[in-house]
Amino acid sequence: MKKRLTMVVRSVEKIALDTVEMVLENAYIAGNAKPGQFLHLQVEGHTLRRPISIADVDQEKELVVILFKRIGTGTKQLAAYRPGMTIDAIGPNGNGFPYMETMKTALLIGGGIGIPPLYNLGKELMERGIHVKAVLGFQTKAHVFYEEKFAALGETWIVTNDGSYGHKGFVTNVLDQTGQFDNYFSCGPMPMLQAVTEELRNKQGYISLEERMGCGIGACFACVIPANEEPGYKKICQDGPVFAADEVIL
Ligand code: FES
Repeated sequence: MKKRLTMVVRSVEKIALDTVEMVLENAYIAGNAKPGQFLHLQVEGHTLRRPISIADVDQEKELVVILFKRIGTGTKQLAAYRPGMTIDAIGPNGNGFPYMETMKTALLIGGGIGIPPLYNLGKELMERGIHVKAVLGFQTKAHVFYEEKFAALGETWIVTNDGSYGHKGFVTNVLDQTGQFDNYFSCGPMPMLQAVTEELRNKQGYISLEERMGCGIGACFACVIPANEEPGYKKICQDGPVFAADEVIL
């Protein structure tokens, strides 16, 4: 159940080009957040809360990690928060990634700032004894983050659009190298998700559309996406952000 809480900033660090990692402390969120869920943060001076997905959780230390891009005024202001400051948060929000008892191997496919929720998922899957593999796509070498963290979970392929690091091109260019897997889990920009779901149309997969969220509370309709069942659409912030790949029309 989501709650309105105060989270204490423990650290703020730039970990790649335009990419900030923030560690927040709160026992309830750390104890209850599921992979794929997000926080709704009230950044000072901004009326609308920002939806930001959870990248990692340390239940023992009661810590929650979020990653975000410093692109708009809200996220620039958030990046300026310092340790000891507090943030008004609502969470954990949304439905997270499902877990299948039959799954033995999972393939994680992430692009850019869509990668963070897959790390939290990969960690949980590994703890459950599931073999994890990951394909991570970035614009350039300067944008790459969490390579070692994913490599600690399992075999990891890094792809950059300009070829400045790892494989050149798009995540779909290396999918044929990843071998067998039972289910895939993907999060990233819409063109990437379209290409991934098309390429893997014969596999059971789950996608998180968290990048498409605006207000995060069902008010702005920025997140509406066509769906296969009645009433013909879903709101990412309320019905997602995670969907079965065949549930929505990308
Ligand atoms: Fe505003 Fe969903 S993000 S309605």
